[in-house]
Amino acid sequence: MVDKADVPDKKNRKFSPLDDIPEALRDTPSTEGGFRLKPIFILGGLAGLGIISLLIAALISLLTPKSPSVSAPPVTVQPTPNPTSTEKPDRFGDLPNHLPYKEADKNQLEVITADGRIKLHKAAAKKYKAMIAAARSQGVIIVPISGFRSVNDQDTIFFGVKAQRNQDVRERAKVSAPPGYSEHHTGYAVDIGDGRSPATDLKQSFENTKAFKWMRQNAARYQFELSFPKNNPQGLSYEPWHWRFVGDIDSLETFYRAKNLK
Ligand code: DAL
Ligand code: ZN
Repeated sequence: MVDKADVPDKKNRKFSPLDDIPEALRDTPSTEGGFRLKPIFILGGLAGLGIISLLIAALISLLTPKSPSVSAPPVTVQPTPNPTSTEKPDRFGDLPNHLPYKEADKNQLEVITADGRIKLHKAAAKKYKAMIAAARSQGVIIVPISGFRSVNDQDTIFFGVKAQRNQDVRERAKVSAPPGYSEHHTGYAVDIGDGRSPATDLKQSFENTKAFKWMRQNAARYQFELSFPKNNPQGLSYEPWHWRFVGDIDSLETFYRAKNLK
């Protein structure tokens, strides 16, 4: 039921669409007989269209993949990891797989020879000394040939000797680590010889010496192991003279974590 008071009295007054708007708010004089679009509606419509356009543009920008902006850091393409392995690709391509090692802190090194020339990491030095004393007590003379080496020392050994011997890089890398990649940097690796058989120093024939046989049987007691046995997974030449200490968590992580990351 409509209250009569709400219905314009067509007889006594003229009806206009603007009648609902108080006179004071009307921005144009009322026009009799017919409807005219007012500028306020046009402006409102245009503003509405503008807002809708902005919303659509924002939506498109959200759904479109971003290209890097000028200030964004450069995108580096990571090699696809092998799903069956956590190994990093070999830094040296098809060269034997040398692993990177940090140079030991000099304060952690301890001399193992009377002339002070050869040093090992303290933990390794202690066990090394006990080991060669035990060997000696059984008539086996083990002598150290090389221990800790700096990256600079290794540079000379790798590139200097390579040139001296006229070796190509593949040949050299089978028997020597590039600087930054030698176990000797860690202070945990030692090259040994047999004091009674110096002719076998740094040769595979060292495996026929008493010193090598003794090491085979006893080195693990002193936490040393052969780094590069025959057919080692790194593809390096067999080095019966090169042993490494793996008797504490630091040395263990140094060698076995590096292996996982190679
Ligand atoms: N001689 C081995 C490869 C090393 O220096 O680690
Ligand atoms: Zn060595």
